[in-house]
Amino acid sequence: MKYKTLDFSGDELKLLDQRKLPLEVEYYNCRTYLDIKFAISDMIVRGAPAIGATAAYGVYLVALEYRELEKEDFIKAVKKANEDLLSARPTAVNLYWAIKRMEGVIDKNKNSTTDELLRLLLEEANTIAEEDIITNRKIAAYGNEIVPEGAVILTHCNTGSLATVDYGTALGIIREAHYAGKHIKVFADETRPRLQGARLTAFELLEEGIPATLIPDSVAATLIRDGKIDLILVGADRIASNGDTANKIGTYMLSEIAKRFDVPFYVAAPVSTIDFDIMDGSEIVIEERSSEEVTHINGIRIAPEGIDVYNPAFDVTPAENISGIITEKGIAGKPYLESLAKFK
Ligand code: MRU
Repeated sequence: MKYKTLDFSGDELKLLDQRKLPLEVEYYNCRTYLDIKFAISDMIVRGAPAIGATAAYGVYLVALEYRELEKEDFIKAVKKANEDLLSARPTAVNLYWAIKRMEGVIDKNKNSTTDELLRLLLEEANTIAEEDIITNRKIAAYGNEIVPEGAVILTHCNTGSLATVDYGTALGIIREAHYAGKHIKVFADETRPRLQGARLTAFELLEEGIPATLIPDSVAATLIRDGKIDLILVGADRIASNGDTANKIGTYMLSEIAKRFDVPFYVAAPVSTIDFDIMDGSEIVIEERSSEEVTHINGIRIAPEGIDVYNPAFDVTPAENISGIITEKGIAGKPYLESLAKFK
């Protein structure tokens, strides 16, 4: 993509402000871990892999902030701040994964000087960010194998460059199939209430010149029933050991309709999105977001004051509804408990 989702230099992380796209292209500068926490919780940056890479730089910024402390106090203070950072968004496991990976660097190098630890932490954060792009390219190559020539693909939310460091997961596969000359067409769900489909996926698809049509979420069932969709590709925020998958709210509904009309339904995600510590989807914490996301559009109230709102950001698609899980290590099929374990 023309614009970088995140860009670290010196002691500052610049994040493309996804709250403002596509109308304004602006960067939000983070110098402290509290800036990073705010950026993640307010969805300046969003999408599981992008959140993970951002958090990795967040841990480095925490370490920079506390560099003057005695070693033991320094480590304690960094880990305490990390706990706080973890609470920014509870569902996307990449946040936890990246923070734990950064803490692994501290644990392995306890006897190094603080300056040396800082160098290693920055190196690790850069590696996490660089690896994400390589991982997405591999997911795209595997995923392209299941995209038929001329396929009409339905996608939900935003799983592109904006949701990752670059290229994307499900949208990366769409990019790959397009570059391979497969004459694909895309239907993008607008994805209420945050409109990641309308604002972000539409932006990326247009930028790439991929033929695309934006639809209200409620149109998807009609298109699927009418035989207009060949393939559904979505991303993931947390995948349980048995393949149950948390993704943007509305994904579960799509998967049920896909099953009813026998349309292939694939999840694309890096192995870092698989939470091997949990057995099934019932253990996934689903983030609930503010009622304003539903009652207001662009700050303008659209629902009457006093109405109750229920606004879960994600839902869980049962493994049985998923045709395959596309990762950088290959495509896992049923039973997922066995196939995913091989990627551990
Ligand atoms: O609330 P968001 O915008 O962070 O939700 C994003 C999604 O649900 C994506 O599908 C998921 O993170 C995968 S992104 C490659």
